[in-house]
Amino acid sequence: MKPSFSIVGCGRVGTALAIFLTEAGYIPSGLASKSLTSAKRAADLIGCLNYTDILWEATNKADIVFITTPDGTIEDVCSKIADKNGFKPECVILHCSGALTSDILSSARACGASIGSMHPLQSFASTKEYKINPFSGIVTSVEGDKKAVDEATLITQDLGSVCISIQTDTKILYHASAVVASNYLVTLLDLSLNLICRAGVPAKDAFKGLKPLIEGTLSNIEHMSVQDALTGPIARGDIKTIENHLSEIAAKTPALLSLYKILGLYTIDIAKAKGTLTDSASKRLKELLGDSTTQ
Ligand SMILES: NC(=O)c1ccc[n+]([C@@H]2O[C@H](COP(=O)([O-])OP(=O)(O)OC[C@H]3O[C@@H](n4cnc5c(N)ncnc54)[C@H](OP(=O)(O)O)[C@@H]3O)[C@@H](O)[C@H]2O)c1
Repeated sequence: MKPSFSIVGCGRVGTALAIFLTEAGYIPSGLASKSLTSAKRAADLIGCLNYTDILWEATNKADIVFITTPDGTIEDVCSKIADKNGFKPECVILHCSGALTSDILSSARACGASIGSMHPLQSFASTKEYKINPFSGIVTSVEGDKKAVDEATLITQDLGSVCISIQTDTKILYHASAVVASNYLVTLLDLSLNLICRAGVPAKDAFKGLKPLIEGTLSNIEHMSVQDALTGPIARGDIKTIENHLSEIAAKTPALLSLYKILGLYTIDIAKAKGTLTDSASKRLKELLGDSTTQ
């Protein structure tokens, strides 16, 4: 029989965990959230009768407790439950933050629990029911006490994810990478959509038009190196085209110019690594993109 679990913080990640842990055979012991409404909503999705806004009443019988509250509250929430003797002896306490280490759960360790973090490399955007399992096929990183890591590894596999271990002291860089891949991809596409709409493409068609380009690039990255997947004017050393981009962006939408330039500068180094950019073209492009006062 699988262990029992409790969720504290019935938001996006907590709700997804509740649904898919239950589906994987783990036994819901209790769900708690700041508001009873959130706890009830998640509990109704999995048919759990023990839902509450008194956190330790949801956690005190669980083998595994997930604290899935916002990052800034996890340590405090854990301490509050520990102060109320709300952790079962020898249980495992996990949080899902990518930026924070398991150390923030040390108040639970002082109660005899094993502590760890289990971070799914996925974007959870809603608390609604899911058509497909968001944990399936993704990478989830784990770190912490050995017992907690062993348990989190099994859970990860049961959820359908690939488990990797991450060192506690390198976690913040790992999280920065995830932020770039997910959040800054949104930023990048916002920049791209802004430019295409300024070019007169109707907003409703803009993403549809760019999507095959994005997917083709992702596929190239998957099948070649990142450097080899780079095409376009910087990879070709096409200085005139970059000059035209800069003057047109400066004229039509100057607020986007500095971001375009910073991304271009970083791209020069990728093109150099690819080996398609001459030293003189690289130097000229760096002059164009590096000096924010030239345009
Ligand atoms: N969202 C993602 O894509 C994602 C991906 C990977 C990891 N994570 C991590 O997962 C964790 C949860 O993130 P999330 O996006 O699921 O957050 P979220 O949707 O904002 O949900 C947080 C939940 O915690 C509850 N809460 C807040 N303060 C509380 C307290 N003091 N006591 C009890 N419950 C409290 C909120 O309660 P009420 O609803 O009751 O007000 C809310 O339901 C974070 O550590 C985050 O870094 C998130």
